[in-house]
Amino acid sequence: MHRGIYDLSEKASQAYEQARKKVGRFINANSWREIVFTRNATESLNLLSWTWGLDNLKQGDVILISEMEHHANLIPWQQVAKRTGAILKYFPITPRGEICLSAYKQLLTPKVKLVAFTLMSNVLGTIPPAKEMIEQAHAVGAIVVGDGAQSVPHLPTDVQDLGLDFLVFSGHKMLGPTGIGVLWGKKSLLENMSPFMTGGEMIKRVSYQVSDWHEVPWKFEAGTPAIAQSIGLGYAVDYLNKIGMENVRQHEKELVTYALVTLGQVEGLRIIGSIDPDIRGGAVTFTFEDIHPHDLATLLNYENVAVRAGHHCAQPLHNKLGLTATTRASFYIYNQPSDVDHLVEALEKARKVFDT
Ligand SMILES: Cc1ncc(COP(=O)(O)O)c(C=O)c1O
Repeated sequence: MHRGIYDLSEKASQAYEQARKKVGRFINANSWREIVFTRNATESLNLLSWTWGLDNLKQGDVILISEMEHHANLIPWQQVAKRTGAILKYFPITPRGEICLSAYKQLLTPKVKLVAFTLMSNVLGTIPPAKEMIEQAHAVGAIVVGDGAQSVPHLPTDVQDLGLDFLVFSGHKMLGPTGIGVLWGKKSLLENMSPFMTGGEMIKRVSYQVSDWHEVPWKFEAGTPAIAQSIGLGYAVDYLNKIGMENVRQHEKELVTYALVTLGQVEGLRIIGSIDPDIRGGAVTFTFEDIHPHDLATLLNYENVAVRAGHHCAQPLHNKLGLTATTRASFYIYNQPSDVDHLVEALEKARKVFDT
């Protein structure tokens, strides 16, 4: 990759860089140089916390994140806070999964150096009013990181229009392969950051004592990259473009509207999160009677309904809501209203098993 002179190696390098360009266009990046390939969203966030975070944060600075973050957008900031003396603060989420903008604004002081939040909650489905929130964060001089692990697969994404500084997401949640993730960042910010991992591919010159770094994005891609996975992600992007992200959103909105109404009529079922399809995505989380989500997921699986059960890597949010575990149905382009009906039938069967 990037090193071979022979045709096959050259072909692989071109396909890899082509995938980068496709991903860049997909989120309307200003340049393909702003796209860094990582293993997943988690690695992208760790990259940010270990580089931008350690280089820029100091004692007393504030990192502001939401109460509904996935552990991937929480633990890296806890770690960097520990190392730098920065303070990690949380802006509140209502039990309905809405963001209290006045509370958010109150927490935004010049001490806040970094704001990071999910652009679509993997538990509550919430789609925050990101553009407004980013503008307000910039007004106090903070850098904004968007966690797009859920939003990029499900919503049209325009990083320039949103005004973000960094965005992270994963290939496997948008019909691509596992083992590939993306960090997008404004070029000027990426250029000023230290490298994350070091070694081959990411260097310009190396001597026995010192080295200097390749240009972005390669500075952040040490070692042999995930060539096949990134090319696979490029094809997933082609596929989603063919459908059109507006159509993906529209399909899911209709499906979620149907799911919220239908599930809302199931006795003993409580939806966790907003019931307004305009401000939420396709993850519908619920509790059902007093059946433990793990038992429920097992019974639903017998009926060929695949749901996720547990805290969905958002344990602090569950603690705040007074829940230990929930069940989550997630919808995407391949789901139909009949899948919602099937889920409801399977829930009724589960009810009979537990005789509630
Ligand atoms: C909102 C959100 N952020 C981050 C992640 C982490 O993604 P990955 O495990 O692909 O790194 C997930 C995964 O479920 C997620 O839902």
